[in-house]
Amino acid sequence: MLTNDQLAAWDRESFFHPSTHLAQHARGETMSRIMTGGEGIYVEDRDGTRLVDAFAGLYCVNVGYGRKEISDAIAEQAGKLAYYHAYVGHGTEASITLAHMILERAPKHMSKVYFGLSGSDANETNVKLVWYYNNVRGMPQKRKIISRWRGYHGSGLITGSLTGLKTFHNKFGLPLAEVIHTEAPYYYRRQDLAMSEAEFVAHCAAELEALIEREGADTIGAFIGEPALGTGGLVPPPAGYWAAIQAVLAKYDILLIADEVVTGFGRLGTMFGSDHFGIKPDIITIAKGLTSAYAPLSGSIVSDKVWKVLEEGTDQFGPIGHGWTYSAHPICAAAGVANLKLIDEMNLVQNAGKVGATFKQALVDQLGNHPHVGDIRGEGLLCAVEFVEDRDARRFYDPARKIGPQVSAALLADGVIARAMPEADIIGFAPPLCLTEDEAAMIAGKMAKAVTAVLG
Ligand SMILES: Cc1ncc(COP(=O)(O)O)c(C=O)c1O
Repeated sequence: MLTNDQLAAWDRESFFHPSTHLAQHARGETMSRIMTGGEGIYVEDRDGTRLVDAFAGLYCVNVGYGRKEISDAIAEQAGKLAYYHAYVGHGTEASITLAHMILERAPKHMSKVYFGLSGSDANETNVKLVWYYNNVRGMPQKRKIISRWRGYHGSGLITGSLTGLKTFHNKFGLPLAEVIHTEAPYYYRRQDLAMSEAEFVAHCAAELEALIEREGADTIGAFIGEPALGTGGLVPPPAGYWAAIQAVLAKYDILLIADEVVTGFGRLGTMFGSDHFGIKPDIITIAKGLTSAYAPLSGSIVSDKVWKVLEEGTDQFGPIGHGWTYSAHPICAAAGVANLKLIDEMNLVQNAGKVGATFKQALVDQLGNHPHVGDIRGEGLLCAVEFVEDRDARRFYDPARKIGPQVSAALLADGVIARAMPEADIIGFAPPLCLTEDEAAMIAGKMAKAVTAVLG
C-alpha cells in the first residue's frame, strides 16, 4: 500500500482539483485530505480521523454514507449490464423505473425526465430545451435567460454564466451575452434596511419586470432560480416571493426553470422545494439527492406544456439533436432507484423537516444573541449562520479577514465539516437527512464553541 506521504506527493504532482487555489496546493501549502470511508453522517480519512460531515459532501449524500442497499444495487447492475445507451428508444429496467419513480414524486403537471450526469449538464440541457421550444413556436429571438445574483446553476459555459457569483465568472470572460441577472431574494442583504419583507418582495418583482421591459419580453425565454438560494448563501426566500415572481413571468410568457439540484428529494422537509414554496415550474433540474451521489446522475423534468411543443418540434423537424453517451447510465439509474426507495423507507423527508427545525432552534438558542451573528436562517436541513462586524448597522466584515473560513477551520479542528460559503462570511450546514436530534444538538454546540473561539 502507498504511504500517505507518497499519495500526497502524487496528488500535488498529478491532480488538477476543482475550485482550488492551484498554486498553493502545488506548493504544498494546503492540505491533501485523502478520504477512505464513511458511515451515516461520518466520514473517515487515511489518517484515521473521523469527522461529522455536516455538509453531506457537497450537499448531496442525502441518505448518509455506507448504505449497502445502494452499493448492492450498483454491484448487481454492473454485473448484469454495466452499460447500454438510451438513444432512439433504448432503456433498461433501472432507467425506465427511475423515470417513473421521479414523476410519481414530482408535481403532477410534470411529464417526462431527460437524464444527464451532473447539475451543470442538466441546466445546459434546460437552456437548449428553452431555445428549441421557442424556435418551434416561431420565436427564435426569445432566448435570453434571467438568473439571480447569488444563484448557483453550475460551472459550464452557459451554466457558469447563469451562476450569479463573480468567483465563477472571473477571468473566464463570463457571463455569456444570453444571460442577464436580477436581484437575489436575500432579505438580510437588502440595500434599503428600512424595507419590510413585503416591500422587499415587491421590489424584487418590480426589478424583474423593469429588466424584462428594458430587454424586451420577446427576447427572454426563461427565468431560472433555486427555490431557496444554495451556494450563494443558503437563503430561503421571503414570504410571497415566488408568487410575485411567477405572476411577472406569466404576464410576459417566460418559462420558469426551478433548479432543485439541492432542494430536490427532501432537503427542505418536502419532496421538492417547488412543493415547499408553491412553485409551478415548466422545467425542474435534479441531481445530487437523486442518487445521494452514490453515482453521478441528473435530470431535467419537463412539464406537459413544454413536452407538447417538443413533440410537435420532432414531428416537424425530425429527432431532437441532443444526447449524452452516458444519459440514463444503468449503474447510476440503479443507484437512483435504490436511493429513492431508501429515502421513503427511512422517512427522510419528514426527518429533514423535524430535525431541521430543532437544529435551527438550537443555533438560535446558542448564538441568537451573539454580537457578531447577524442572521440565522434555514428550511429543513439547509441552514446558515451569517456574521457581521456591527450587528445594529449590519456592517459586514472586510472579506480579507476571512471570518467564515476561520470559523469553519475551528469547527473542523473539533471534528465537524461545515462550509464557509463564497463571497460572504457565512457558515452553511446541509447534513445528511438521516441526522438525529442528538447529532443536531452536538453540531450546534460545537458551532457555538467555534464561533466563541474565533469571535469571542
Ligand atoms: C442549485 C445547483 N444547480 C446546479 C449545480 C451544478 O451541479 P454539478 O456540480 O453537479 O454540475 C449545483 C451544484 O452545487 C447546484 O447547487
